[in-house]
Amino acid sequence: MNKYRKVVKLLKKYDQEHLLLFYDSLTSDEKNILLDQIIRIDFEKLLLLYHDYQKEVPFSNSVIEPLEYIQENMIESDIQLKYIKKGEQMISSGELAVVTLAGGQGTRLGLKLPKGCFEIETEPRKSLFQIQCENLQRANAKYNTKIHWYIMTSPDNDEVTQKYFNDKNYFGYPKEKITFFKQNTLPVVDYHGKLILDKLYKVKEVSNGNGDVFISLKENGFIKKMELEGIKYVHISGIDNVILKTVDPLLIGLCSSGNYKISSKTVTKNENESNEWVFARKDGKPSIVSSKRITEEMNELKDEEGRYIYRETNILSHLFSLEALKYCSNLELPYHLAEKRNDYINEEGVKVMPRIPNTYKFEQFIFDSFSYFDTMLLLNVKREEEFAPIKSFTGEQTPEKALELYLQKERNRN
Ligand code: UTP
Repeated sequence: MNKYRKVVKLLKKYDQEHLLLFYDSLTSDEKNILLDQIIRIDFEKLLLLYHDYQKEVPFSNSVIEPLEYIQENMIESDIQLKYIKKGEQMISSGELAVVTLAGGQGTRLGLKLPKGCFEIETEPRKSLFQIQCENLQRANAKYNTKIHWYIMTSPDNDEVTQKYFNDKNYFGYPKEKITFFKQNTLPVVDYHGKLILDKLYKVKEVSNGNGDVFISLKENGFIKKMELEGIKYVHISGIDNVILKTVDPLLIGLCSSGNYKISSKTVTKNENESNEWVFARKDGKPSIVSSKRITEEMNELKDEEGRYIYRETNILSHLFSLEALKYCSNLELPYHLAEKRNDYINEEGVKVMPRIPNTYKFEQFIFDSFSYFDTMLLLNVKREEEFAPIKSFTGEQTPEKALELYLQKERNRN
């Protein structure tokens, strides 16, 4: 069967024939690009995810229990020093690598450039990439090392990101110690379960969530490379937190001394914030559970030290042992659906950018890997010292708020 007929049959089966609406007007190269892309798409899997999401999910009977955590400011200072020393030794011996997740679309900010290029109003202005880079440069100077910095991009923003770093001369970071790698993508679907077009000859595909970091590190051969380089721990974090502590000897020391394979920094949930997910044990395993599963009574529960039990939230700052990273790269994490604003080609063949979310994006999340382990280390830190993400121009996580906390941290450093 020729390629075109095969595609027509496939699209008919999944009720997606509109993807060929402009086919006749395409050049022969464009026709081939479109047909090849459609053949590669796993419609079965995609539409199953979409339909599963539409179904009413019965309230799960899973058992929710506390997940113990350590509060940084409650560790006595001489004990802290012991762990910090251990962590510092490991950093100095080159046992830490850092992965920055920069493959997201940043749809809430709606920027033309990758989110990492977004500049906050310091004097002079600094981009999110520069801020992360300066973090690493400070650590390199302090621990007399050159930390390998891996940056996860997406097929959509990889070229621009790499050009940006090149134009900025890598902010003075040793170029051979920065590695970019592209994550995978999946098509988005509209609210009727239809795939959309990005170009007349291209189906819209976007990055498939930060949980793809494990597989894409493996597929690009970087887990092997880390092993050869003697890496023991890998810090994984988002691009948009301007006061992130990327290199934290205390966390590394605690993890390695306690033989933890995975760990996360947490902050206590802010009551004004609509953060819907908190750390807990679900059916005995470390998890992040929706606040809907936390009853009012559980929300008020405190431990012997007077700390809330079910209020620790994820700040996307994780430390994985290399062994754990390897293990996770062989997992098939579940997909979540997120509503996102995505531009599309309308029936007239014109590109349209909607003002409100119009599509479902399929995303894997790093936190779904936690439940494959029996335990994990949670280190509760102060929000104002480690968590100031930029998500949108309105609400709680704006560039202005982040700038304020960034400047405050800079003042404390000096
Ligand atoms: P968010 O979930 O906040 O998404 O990502 P986002 O792309 O930054 O912004 P919105 O939701 O579209 O407005 C948290 C972190 O995970 C990365 C992002 O780049 C950010 O650092 N991420 C997200 C990826 O690397 N890949 C993805 O597919 C999704």
